[in-house]
Amino acid sequence: MSEKPIILGIETSCDETAISLIEDNETGIPKILSNIVSSQFDVHKEFGGVVPELAARSHVEKIDLIAKKAIKESGIELNKISAIAATYGPGLIVCLSVGLSFGKGLASTLKIPFIGVNHLEGHALSPKLHDKIDYPYLLLLISGGHSQYLSVNGLGNYKRLGTTIDDALGEAFDKTAKMLGIDFPGGPKIEEFAKKGNAEKYDLPKPIINKGGCNLSFAGLKTAILRIVKNIKSEQEKYDLAASFQKTIEDILFVKTKVAFDEFIKLNPGKNYKFVVAGGVAANKEIRKKLIEVSLFHNFKPIFPDLKLCGDNAAMIAMVGLEKFKKKQFDSLELPASPRLPLDENAQFLKGSGLILD
Ligand code: KG4
Ligand code: ZN
Repeated sequence: MSEKPIILGIETSCDETAISLIEDNETGIPKILSNIVSSQFDVHKEFGGVVPELAARSHVEKIDLIAKKAIKESGIELNKISAIAATYGPGLIVCLSVGLSFGKGLASTLKIPFIGVNHLEGHALSPKLHDKIDYPYLLLLISGGHSQYLSVNGLGNYKRLGTTIDDALGEAFDKTAKMLGIDFPGGPKIEEFAKKGNAEKYDLPKPIINKGGCNLSFAGLKTAILRIVKNIKSEQEKYDLAASFQKTIEDILFVKTKVAFDEFIKLNPGKNYKFVVAGGVAANKEIRKKLIEVSLFHNFKPIFPDLKLCGDNAAMIAMVGLEKFKKKQFDSLELPASPRLPLDENAQFLKGSGLILD
């Protein structure tokens, strides 16, 4: 085994087949040896959303090849790998099972530890692949399935401060895109459209903006957009609606982030405050700008993952694997896929009462 741990990470929770190798480093920032992500946009495009069975089939078809490519690109011999880390939830069970079985098989063959990783924890730790960030920090996780403010107190130690009470932010972007006739996933395209539009053209609702702490709500926006879309006649009006939508999201996040800052400070008084924004929507440049502005205004250091680490990838899964490896937090090969795996205690409590929010 190599002196510095090397972790092979696997991610197949939804529509990306991804494998990455990372190596620990004395700087505290691991080296990414390879990071292969194969997206299935073309497979699901015509259906307007991810079709689980097709996604799983595509993972099965590609995972061998992606693994070979990632290992070759890393220049690492198989016997130098210290552990295998694979996403075991949340996600689509048929998709999770592919990466999980592949990872368990590899760990068993190589006789090395197997580590199950929560996909959301992967996003939460993703900026640690290029920045040294000590705990605790405030996290805003904005992806296709989740929108949450969390106090990240340590590895596996999360306290949820706020969450969406209906749609996730990525979902709101994708649904708006669909109404504008843009292919799935529409988030990045909305950002493109918004550049060409007038953000002041449409006055859209900002649900629960002044209530509910730092909980979020985006469903009301959908209804408002649907109403406007019906009367849209030109491409320019589409650009204007995309710009107005994006601006509304920026305004909501600006206000809610300030509330989350206050709650985080109450929990962690007198620390160097850091604010990490992760998940697919963290790639949006205008949203980044707005969140940097609110952070600097309130003395939080804003930290974003590199653009290529915002969306689903396996380097972030290997990152969690590395931290767990150092703490000898290994899993049994019996570990089942867990499609609704939460990140924080609060969610577990809600789950127990059948009230899980997202
Ligand atoms: O984290 P992610 O890759 O997958 C999940 O775990 O869900 O997030 C995907 C989501 C999609 O809803 C996608 O439309 C959105 O992130 N997204 C964006 C941008 N890039 C990806 N939303 C807004 N602006 C973007 N540039
Ligand atoms: Zn994700």
